Amino acid sequence: MSGPIPPTPVLQAIHDRRSVRRFTDAAVSRDLILTALTAASWAPSGLNNQPWRFAVVRDQAIKEKLAGLTRYSAVLKSAPVLVPVFLDKDNSYDYVKDCQAVGACLQNFLLALHSLGLGAVWIGEILKNGDKVMEILELPGRLDLMAVVAVGYPEHSKQSSHRRPIEELILLDK
Ligand SMILES: Cc1cc2nc3c(=O)[nH]c(=O)nc-3n(C[C@H](O)[C@H](O)[C@H](O)COP(=O)(O)O)c2cc1C
Repeated sequence: MSGPIPPTPVLQAIHDRRSVRRFTDAAVSRDLILTALTAASWAPSGLNNQPWRFAVVRDQAIKEKLAGLTRYSAVLKSAPVLVPVFLDKDNSYDYVKDCQAVGACLQNFLLALHSLGLGAVWIGEILKNGDKVMEILELPGRLDLMAVVAVGYPEHSKQSSHRRPIEELILLDK
């Protein structure tokens, strides 16, 4: 966005949120996770089919097994909570649109966590081992893993990031 950002809470959260990859040891309450997951579930979806499903993992042994499936192992180990996010194929009507809906849901989740003072990062790299994740979690094959979100209280803030200027991204404006 060029120019000053209008100080609306949603715009502020969109611009301030950064991926957080190191967390403090502080526990994250179940209430906060449920609040953020509820916000995630208010994402739009085609036909309002709400194809997203979630797991909440706090168990240290399971977290370590999942950490072994990604090169972001240190991030997963550092996070007090891991939230694998799935697409429920039994609830799917159009695979592309359903993936888009789960993406919207993930973004809602990240923004909600940020607005609650929590930090998180969307881990996609673990998808290469999606089958193994499902085995470890002992969840049914109708679920397609879309991401694992690592959640905790941020150990750092003020991290920088960058975006291409909006003028480069708008290809037609007439
Ligand atoms: C589909 C997707 C997959 C991602 N996978 C990973 C990942 O495996 N590991 C990681 O550290 N970050 C991952 N990220 C986070 C991005 O690296 C991050 O959003 C990007 O660098 C911009 O930084 P920011 O979120 O701080 O603005 C992923 C983000 C998305 C949307």
